[in-house]
Amino acid sequence: MRILLLTHAFNSLTQRLAAELQQCGHQTSIEFDIADSVTEEAVALFAPDLIVAPYLRRAIAESIWSRIVCLIVHPGVVGDRGPSALDWAIQNQETEWGVTVLQAQAEMDAGPVWASASFPMRQTRKSSLYRQEVTLAASRAVLEAVQRFESGSFVPHAPATLPATRGQWRPLMKQAQRQLDWQRDSSATVLSKLCAADGFPGVADHLFGQPCHLFDAWPEATLRGTPGAVIARRETALLRATADGAIWIGHVKRANGIKLPAALAFAGDAQALPEQPLPDWWRSSTATWQDIAYEEAGPLGFLSFEFYNGAMSTTQCDRLRSALRWAKQRPTRVLLLMGGSDFWSNGIHLNVIEAASLDGGSAADESWRNINAINDLALELINTEQQITVAALGGNAGAGGCFLARACDLVWAREAVLLNPHYKNMGNLYGSEYWTYLLPRRIGSDAAQAIMRDRQPMTARRALQAGFTDACLAGELPVFRFEVAQRAAALATQSELAQRLATKRESRQRDEAVKPLAAYREEELTQMRRNFYGFDPSYHIARHHFVHKSPASWTPRHLARHRDLGWRLP
Ligand code: COA
Repeated sequence: MRILLLTHAFNSLTQRLAAELQQCGHQTSIEFDIADSVTEEAVALFAPDLIVAPYLRRAIAESIWSRIVCLIVHPGVVGDRGPSALDWAIQNQETEWGVTVLQAQAEMDAGPVWASASFPMRQTRKSSLYRQEVTLAASRAVLEAVQRFESGSFVPHAPATLPATRGQWRPLMKQAQRQLDWQRDSSATVLSKLCAADGFPGVADHLFGQPCHLFDAWPEATLRGTPGAVIARRETALLRATADGAIWIGHVKRANGIKLPAALAFAGDAQALPEQPLPDWWRSSTATWQDIAYEEAGPLGFLSFEFYNGAMSTTQCDRLRSALRWAKQRPTRVLLLMGGSDFWSNGIHLNVIEAASLDGGSAADESWRNINAINDLALELINTEQQITVAALGGNAGAGGCFLARACDLVWAREAVLLNPHYKNMGNLYGSEYWTYLLPRRIGSDAAQAIMRDRQPMTARRALQAGFTDACLAGELPVFRFEVAQRAAALATQSELAQRLATKRESRQRDEAVKPLAAYREEELTQMRRNFYGFDPSYHIARHHFVHKSPASWTPRHLARHRDLGWRLP
């Protein structure tokens, strides 16, 4: 079938659905929901059999749903309606939740149900729930709904007539319903309210007497203070006392500002706070804020880095490189780079770069520092001589983050993961992280150019087929991590490990003799210098729109295939 994906943005859920539908043999194209007339034009050009709407912020026009079946993905159980489905599910401490695929009609979220899928709720942030459980359940339900539609014999029924209906209409959750009372709320209450609002819209509050929205909350088990007072800082996070303990705030968005690490957004005030470093930076703890951690199990070293949204600033890259250098000195045989739970890495930190320009500094200079810092990290990985390195992608990776992973000897990705191994969407950015060395030697130069040019997301399965990764492992995150440890243990005890390491060193020496890594880096950075400092400001404009979340005014051509000049209806 020809399926048009109508969406507010090409977010990870839309990317996954597009990939899954293509894998089932359907022809898909994307149109952003910009205006009814634009959608009508897309429908006329593509003549879809079906429209799937994974992520919309407004209703579909009657002129469209009255002619073509439009399947809406709603992140709620059957019968649930309204724009804050997940927020309410988290705040109401539901134990099980779901996704419903229903047909668009005049009344919002009330149309006939084509399919639904459920999942047990995890105590986590809304954004994490959306990227993991909701995305998986939505894929299952959409594929089932599409099959039912294709069969021609399925009759969908209104939610109210279905036996298992337990959802109900719930209004938009307002800030008044999210409001924090630092004097009275326990840490558990503050955490749950912040989790229900992450990564959008956050909870409106004040810090240092200034209005802001709070995100990225972490529990603290031991430190205490006067309720409401900001009592400490650690790296990028601030600690604020609650009625019975304290909560770390990782990110904030100041009025009219962009989302930033809290200690950067309030840099002046944060400086006056006592620093609370972890006594042992590597020792993993769930009882406090910690972004980099290291664990060892016999011959295996596990280095985790839980950077919010997978974005890696200059300082974060430098700190991770120090941790990596330290881990490389340990008597291990396999070193696993675990990333974070939702993201492995999305490359340089575009918000921190943007913030540099807001302070009267230079975004170009900060981009330059950041790309060099991430390159140094990639170099440290490539030059690991005593261990086999493995990038274990439990969460998504994008742009430079994909090539940072490829700087490891092996890349093992969880089946649910999406990769976007390309840069051009960010204002034609050329990219660095030694991709010109790492990618062609894996998949050949034509395939490397095609990946960069086509700018399509890859599922973990597709990435394995394309040769970009070395394994695709099924299961949810804990199962994936267990499987990764098993495979790594088998690798570490292989009798031929010493030989494997020797071969790796020799191959690196051979490559270096043919063309030094410094030459690849210099060539990439010559292009990047143009992106950052050159005449064409595309990268700066694209970054500005990305971090300020400017609404799209057209669908990029590489997504809207029906708008290709050569596109013809078969
Ligand atoms: N720097 C700062 N923030 C980033 C980021 C980066 N490199 N990459 C992603 N984010 C943030 C997004 O702004 C968004 O923030 P939110 O909390 O306000 O929602 C969040 O991470 C999730 O991103 P989103 O785009 O919704 O995720 P996705 O899974 O749908 O898409 C990507 C993933 C990688 C395709 C997309 O985020 C992207 O294009 N990122 C930029 C990558 C890049 O160009 N890096 C620089 C070159 S190395």
